Amino acid sequence: MPATSKPRDQKQLLGKARSAKKDEFYTQLPDIERELKHYTEQFKGKVVYCNADDPRISNFFHYFSHNFERLGLKKLITTCYKNQERDLFSRHDSEQAIYLEYNGDKNDNRVPDPDEIGVHPLEGDGDFRSPECVALLKQADIVVTNPPFSLFREYITQLVEHDKKFLIVGNQNAITYKEVFSLIRDDKLWLGFGFKRNMAHFYSPYEASEWVEQEGDNVVRVSGVQWFTNLDLQKRHEELILYRSYNPDEYPTYDNYDGIEVANTVDIPMDYDGNMGVPITFLNKYNPEQFEIVGSFNAGAHGEELGATKTEAESKGKVLMWNGPVVNRKPIYKRIVIRRRSA
Ligand SMILES: C[S@@+](CC[C@H](N)C(=O)[O-])C[C@H]1O[C@@H](n2cnc3c(N)ncnc32)[C@H](O)[C@@H]1O
Repeated sequence: MPATSKPRDQKQLLGKARSAKKDEFYTQLPDIERELKHYTEQFKGKVVYCNADDPRISNFFHYFSHNFERLGLKKLITTCYKNQERDLFSRHDSEQAIYLEYNGDKNDNRVPDPDEIGVHPLEGDGDFRSPECVALLKQADIVVTNPPFSLFREYITQLVEHDKKFLIVGNQNAITYKEVFSLIRDDKLWLGFGFKRNMAHFYSPYEASEWVEQEGDNVVRVSGVQWFTNLDLQKRHEELILYRSYNPDEYPTYDNYDGIEVANTVDIPMDYDGNMGVPITFLNKYNPEQFEIVGSFNAGAHGEELGATKTEAESKGKVLMWNGPVVNRKPIYKRIVIRRRSA
């Protein structure tokens, strides 16, 4: 079945997938191409591993196998999870999974033919944490995939522990996870080029919900989706042009922290040297030579780490004690605290 075609027997598959964890979001080829073109040079001579991908339907496998020679790859390895059937939505009904190895085109037709792809059984279910998948991970230089979001913390921690380069899809909320944020602050992880308006279109069996909008037959639109990477890209060396000047009336100070509230990234003042709380989408414009990240500012442990004090705030008629950002007794949504680096 070609990578971008639709599954057989969809009704039956949808029922099964619905009972699984909400991890079935299959990345579309145009989104992969749009991102990957920013890193072409960095793939030369590299072993790429896609470890949450049924290779027969994954567009990551499709992309890397069809662009193997153009990128100058050394090897492509792909593992699938609990699934040996050629359907788009994982059935999770087989404990034994497979892995594929592709070493490039042998017959000069520039296409990965079935007899050029090595298919090997795995002993277990293909869980990215299993010893056999970790052994494959060790062979890899760069891991690229859209991993299960429900395991994102564990997934990224494993990549960092094994000192791998990676480019992976994740939900924007992951930015404020402790494990992820400390990597961003320490400049070991950043956001990739990005989906159009931070919105991804996935093949998916799920119906519309609070954060998933139906786009068509088995295609959903999810906002707040980002690429997370430690591969260099031009965007993070571009200076954000600032055109506003600080004045205390337009930039209120937090009630409980020594810093000013900047509600929109474009409004960051060019002449303020102290702490500034900005929305997390600022990270799409973050240039570590221009700004320093001080910390994550939201209620609970993050507020505590930053040194924000608990203060009274009013929300929907209720008074709460809050150590997330508060301006004039009003709690504000998550912020990242940044400072300008001196020129
Ligand atoms: C968000 S989907 C993306 C699939 C594919 N990477 C893509 O982008 O089209 C995540 C996939 O991870 C698989 N998965 C869930 N738990 C896993 C685990 N423990 N190890 C490996 N893969 C897992 C799910 O079955 C699902 O197919």
